[in-house]
Amino acid sequence: MISRRAILKTGGASAILLGASAGGAALYAHGPGMAKARAPWAAAGTSFGDPRIDALAYAILAPNPHNRQPWMFELVGDDRIDVYVDLNKRLPETDPFDRQITIGFGCMLELLSMAAAEKGTRAEVIPFPDSQPQPRLTRGRVAQVTFVPDDANRDPLFETILARRSTKDPFDMTKRVSADALNQVLAAGTGQLSLGGTTDPDRVRELIDLAWLGWMIEYETDQTRKESIDLMRIGNRAVVENPDGIDMGGVEMGLYKLTGIVSPQGLNEKGSQAYNIGIDMYRDIIHSSMGFAWITASENSRLSQIDAGRDWVRMNLAAQRAGLGIHPLSQVLQEFPEMAEPYRAIHTKLGAEDGVVHMFGRLGYTRFPAASPRWPVESKLISS
Ligand SMILES: Cc1cc2nc3c(=O)[nH]c(=O)nc-3n(C[C@H](O)[C@H](O)[C@H](O)COP(=O)(O)O)c2cc1C
Repeated sequence: MISRRAILKTGGASAILLGASAGGAALYAHGPGMAKARAPWAAAGTSFGDPRIDALAYAILAPNPHNRQPWMFELVGDDRIDVYVDLNKRLPETDPFDRQITIGFGCMLELLSMAAAEKGTRAEVIPFPDSQPQPRLTRGRVAQVTFVPDDANRDPLFETILARRSTKDPFDMTKRVSADALNQVLAAGTGQLSLGGTTDPDRVRELIDLAWLGWMIEYETDQTRKESIDLMRIGNRAVVENPDGIDMGGVEMGLYKLTGIVSPQGLNEKGSQAYNIGIDMYRDIIHSSMGFAWITASENSRLSQIDAGRDWVRMNLAAQRAGLGIHPLSQVLQEFPEMAEPYRAIHTKLGAEDGVVHMFGRLGYTRFPAASPRWPVESKLISS
């Protein structure tokens, strides 16, 4: 009999089972066999013999949707990086216009700039230098980055890059988020876009209802649920072989997979025990939100998506520095047809009827999770 206890490792339609306590789960997350998938976190800070790769080693640790790490880098001459997207690593069901994927690139470019500045170099970033592709991304360059030796200003948030997490566990509902903590998060932006947030209990309750509605729609829509399930890496071996997507590592998880207790088919079956536990788990996660923070823009352009990513990672770093957990809940912001109602509702609630809400996440306190898997930076370099 499977324990009712479960762990959800990502947002949306991705539920998993673990016959273990939350503490046990954390142990598995740190357990044997996962070191290789986390090695890029240790590699950042070592020298790769080229300052651009040294900076990229930090940049690839950026938050990004479903941890797809869709970036590819071409080193051009001795001072330029051309940034491309691996079109196979997009999320066509939950992110039909590649908006969230582009935001992930913004996060990555912000960390790249910070890491370059740490070495006294200004990273001159030109997003979409060739064209701003719509409605989906194309093979063209996502960004051109030139390293300019300069008196770049070091960014104090750099120091938090290795500690930063997206915190997906339930928050401690006895610990309120203070206005001061929220303000620290909102003050971290670049000033390009509008950052908002609330810790007001009534407003938080309303936003929880909306976030929950969005989550359920994503989960109950076959193609969006399946997109997440297809990206699950179940057991340490699967994570190490494919250190992207949805990390369901752990020795016990590997056993469940071997014995067939946890399988993608089972998770995808409406009404199954695994399916229902997924709902219970995420209900707890969303309903433990102690505050929310968001980013809005006046227009949904590729440039505003990049700016949103820059702001989001800065908010994430500022929250981390303050010991505060932050967790994107993107379901209500998604542009697939079944989400139209709550999409409209969140835009109205956050005063963005004429623009776009690019990021929306919950805030609260809990223990921070282990670092998420990454492909090594070298594997993301393409030759010209
Ligand atoms: C644009 C964007 C949207 C995201 N949406 C979600 C989400 O809806 N649910 C979730 O659990 N995480 C979401 N995340 C967080 C990613 O899952 C997370 O960054 C990734 O798994 C890597 O983990 P890390 O941030 O802890 O390194 C989002 C991140 C970005 C940049």
